[in-house]
Amino acid sequence: MTSLLHLDSSANRSDESVTRQLTRLFAETWQCLYGQAGYRYRDLAVEPAPPIDTAYCALGRRSERYGVVPLAKVDALIDNQAEETTWALTRPLIDELVSSQTVLIGAPMYNYTLPAALKAWIDRVSFPGALVDPSSRTRVLRNTKVVIVTSRGGAYGPGTPREGWDYETPYLREYFTKHGVRDLHVITRRADLGQPGPAPRGPARAGGTVPRRSPRRGRGGSPRRGQGARRAGVGAAARAEVEAAGASG
Ligand SMILES: Cc1cc2nc3c(=O)[nH]c(=O)nc-3n(C[C@H](O)[C@H](O)[C@H](O)COP(=O)(O)O)c2cc1C
Repeated sequence: MTSLLHLDSSANRSDESVTRQLTRLFAETWQCLYGQAGYRYRDLAVEPAPPIDTAYCALGRRSERYGVVPLAKVDALIDNQAEETTWALTRPLIDELVSSQTVLIGAPMYNYTLPAALKAWIDRVSFPGALVDPSSRTRVLRNTKVVIVTSRGGAYGPGTPREGWDYETPYLREYFTKHGVRDLHVITRRADLGQPGPAPRGPARAGGTVPRRSPRRGRGGSPRRGQGARRAGVGAAARAEVEAAGASG
């Protein structure tokens, strides 16, 4: 079964959030193509991955000493209650990531980089050895498709005054590439912070009509029904990019 893990990290949970609008559009398009059974949603702003702690570092170091430890065997290395607690917070996030064929990440730019909530999730899923196959030593994300949707208020392209100040997309590209991801899409929108854009007309299309339904409810809540890609400059170009990134599943 094909599967999609949808993560949002914008602190703005209103329907003005550009990244939330675009990830919702992607998720709705994807569900139109593949159904809801393989869809999972995690709102990192509502249910943040706790920042890593001393116990995480101790368990990670111990695990590293044994090389690449299969996840199921990390339990045997746990030394105390704090490590048990931190592993219980970490393992489900890793399992969720590695079992997903497509990972969709809403990642607004905050202070020239990614939101702390998303970084905390990255720190958790990057537990030593977790993203390497213990038997083949290959990267477990090598066949995972990753779609990153970013939004920012400023411009950072060549020739702009802040060229080189984007510490978000280069980082995310490097991170996922280093972990073996070959099918990586980055969709970048510049938010119109002043004026909401016009409502898009008609449903998104990706080989079919996107039904007016909201994605299945996940543990972190779910995108709210009927909010669609309505405001803040989410126009035809963004729709085309989202559909292109999701078209092959
Ligand atoms: C705390 C905070 C920090 C921000 N920092 C930046 C920044 O460094 N550079 C930038 O271009 N825009 C910045 N912005 C603007 C956001 O990137 C922009 O509004 C984006 O659309 C937010 O994503 P969202 O619409 O999905 O919530 C910041 C916004 C917030 C709330």
